[in-house]
Amino acid sequence: MRFCANAFAAVAAVTLFLSTSVAQSGTPVAYTDPDTDITFDTWTVSETLSKGGFTFGIALPSDALTTDASEFIGYLLCSSQNTTSTGWCGVSLGGTMTNSLLLLAYPHGGSILTSFRYTTGYHMPDVYTGNAELTQISSTINATHYALIFRCSNCLQWTQGSASGNASTSTSPMNLGWAQAFPAPGNPSCPSDITIHYHDNGHNIWAATLKNAPNTSYTDWTAMAKTTVKGRCSTKTGSTTTATPASSGPVPAGATTTPK
Ligand SMILES: *[C@@H]1O[C@H](CO)[C@@H](O)[C@H](O)[C@H]1NC(C)=O
Ligand SMILES: *[C@@H]1O[C@H](CO)[C@@H](O)[C@H](O)[C@H]1NC(C)=O
Ligand SMILES: *[C@@H]1O[C@H](CO)[C@@H](O)[C@H](O)[C@H]1NC(C)=O
Ligand SMILES: *[C@@H]1O[C@H](CO)[C@@H](O)[C@H](O)[C@H]1NC(C)=O
Repeated sequence: MRFCANAFAAVAAVTLFLSTSVAQSGTPVAYTDPDTDITFDTWTVSETLSKGGFTFGIALPSDALTTDASEFIGYLLCSSQNTTSTGWCGVSLGGTMTNSLLLLAYPHGGSILTSFRYTTGYHMPDVYTGNAELTQISSTINATHYALIFRCSNCLQWTQGSASGNASTSTSPMNLGWAQAFPAPGNPSCPSDITIHYHDNGHNIWAATLKNAPNTSYTDWTAMAKTTVKGRCSTKTGSTTTATPASSGPVPAGATTTPK
């Protein structure tokens, strides 16, 4: 029963994705970021499928094609339309929106904020309660795009309540999904409190072939991941309310942070 329900959800998701746009190529394009010298396998969604375009990339530990990695270094290049529609974008590390670890990112106050999410249905995903961790290496924001390079630890195996899943780097291809929206999230200062609209700037699933992602410099690159950007979230402890600082650690190359 449970298997049937999950299988149906997966089929429904694929149908949903394919009905709205043409599946894009899973063939990766190597991209080396000039500031960090990190080389990624990248997959780009064209302007015609998502206004402003979208690119996702991953770098992996050197043995990732034979031994499943638990983490990766990610590259997200997403688009903003104008000063109000700064948008949000996201990736599904399992391909489908449901039953996969989801990562959302959006620009706010000069920083790029991120939120791990999980959902079993087609509605606003819940906050992910597993141990995935994101540390930023660089973030750049301009009028039309925001780009984030980050280390994603414990991101390729996930657990939410009694459900678990994984993305296997040793079994090519890897199913990934993307989504992008025009409106900025509501309640943007705290990533776990955001409200988001439907991804009205496109979404799709693709079977990503890995080629240039594993690299012997991977471990060295992880040392650049020093910044945790948490946003401003109020945590009520008894009668006192404390606000966590917007970010900790040194400001990464190219990042602009606005003192709050
Ligand atoms: C590993 O990364 C370096 C630096 O970005 C790059 O020059 C090299 O081509 C990469 N190796 C592979 C096998 O892609
Ligand atoms: C901003 O972009 C959105 C999405 O394309 C559009 O609906 C809105 O009219 C734009 N606003 C302005 C002020 O240009
Ligand atoms: C904004 O960033 C994007 C992506 O890095 C880049 O292609 C574009 O040229 C930048 N725009 C400006 C005005 O610098
Ligand atoms: C990944 O998921 C598959 C299928 O559910 C399972 O057989 C495998 O043991 C999982 N691998 C890890 C590392 O969790």
